Amino acid sequence: AHVWRGVIREYADRLPVTEDTRVVTLGEGGTPLIRAPHLSELVRGDVHVKFEGMNPTGSFKDRGMTMAITAAVENGAEAVVCASTGNTSASAAAYAAQAGLTCAVLVPEGKISLGKMSQAVAHGAEILQVQGNFDDCLDIARKLSENYPVFLVNSVNPARIEGQKTGAFEVVDTLGDAPDYHLLPVGNAGNITGYWKGYQEYARPYVNPHPGTSDEELPTVATRTPVMWGFQAAGAAPIVLGHPVTDPDTIATAIRIGNPASWDLATAARDASGGMIDSVTDEEILEAHRWLSSKEGVFVEPASAAGVAGLIKHHAAGNVPEGKTWVITVTGHGLKDPQWALKNADGDEISPRSVPFDVVTVAEALGLA
Ligand code: F0G
Repeated sequence: AHVWRGVIREYADRLPVTEDTRVVTLGEGGTPLIRAPHLSELVRGDVHVKFEGMNPTGSFKDRGMTMAITAAVENGAEAVVCASTGNTSASAAAYAAQAGLTCAVLVPEGKISLGKMSQAVAHGAEILQVQGNFDDCLDIARKLSENYPVFLVNSVNPARIEGQKTGAFEVVDTLGDAPDYHLLPVGNAGNITGYWKGYQEYARPYVNPHPGTSDEELPTVATRTPVMWGFQAAGAAPIVLGHPVTDPDTIATAIRIGNPASWDLATAARDASGGMIDSVTDEEILEAHRWLSSKEGVFVEPASAAGVAGLIKHHAAGNVPEGKTWVITVTGHGLKDPQWALKNADGDEISPRSVPFDVVTVAEALGLA
């Protein structure tokens, strides 16, 4: 049987690594591409979700982080830093722990979920809650890396994008070609940049441009690239509005970002693919979140459902053609931020009933008797 070796070893000939690279990996990638029967029926097409919550720290960030921490080690760094809405910090902390590096994380005060915070703590990161938003944290992280001996592992580091492009490779390897459409949430815009890079590199003959890597030409894997649809939260939708948002606000804390670092690369992916970047409201995000867990059996954190919310929104608007193949990246696991599952559509708390130790009463409570 084939044993999955993590994205760097699986795709070494398409990444900036050499045979001598000391790879830091937790076996990330190889995540399931799950057919979503109910979404497929809704749009009369073939809808798959790429379940990135199955990565070792529970989000897609691990694809980029194996590359970034590997690069940090290769550069002789002893400490790394990141700004984060939570998932990047969880991932950086885990990979840094394995590599024996000090990891500093800057998070917006009071705005990261308990699950993500607990991961960063467990992996021994030095955590500071900044009195500001994600964009402020990234500003400080960049300046720290410019002025102090600390290596930046946010997605402004090209190594991160290189790792994240492997998500597109896996989709094509599984489906046999690129889908017609690829949908995903957009926050700091690194992931849409990574996917678009991966799809493009698979759709043309590829020679690894990185020094010290193979100059062998690799054959084309896909016959086409997909149309890219990205979705921001309505309260944090700078790309949709065309200007930075100074006070971004959404329950989808992972994408609560007002000035994405990879803004231009995201709009380039949108334009080159003939796609769009649109927004979805918190209500639409939570509806998609409930749809995924209750109908498709896939539990994600709210931000992760933004792509599904976008599909449902545009289907209702009549913008979704029939008979197409759709891949939607659902970016992080539901256990990251489980509080949203414990509320119903009206926002009321859901609390399971208490019953006595009696089979008849239990049967009655279940409507079986
Ligand atoms: N979904 C989740 C669950 C995320 O954590 C993020 C980003 C995104 C989507 C958006 O991806 O930034 O590449 O456009 N989280 C970052 C973090 C900002 O710090 O964990 P993006």
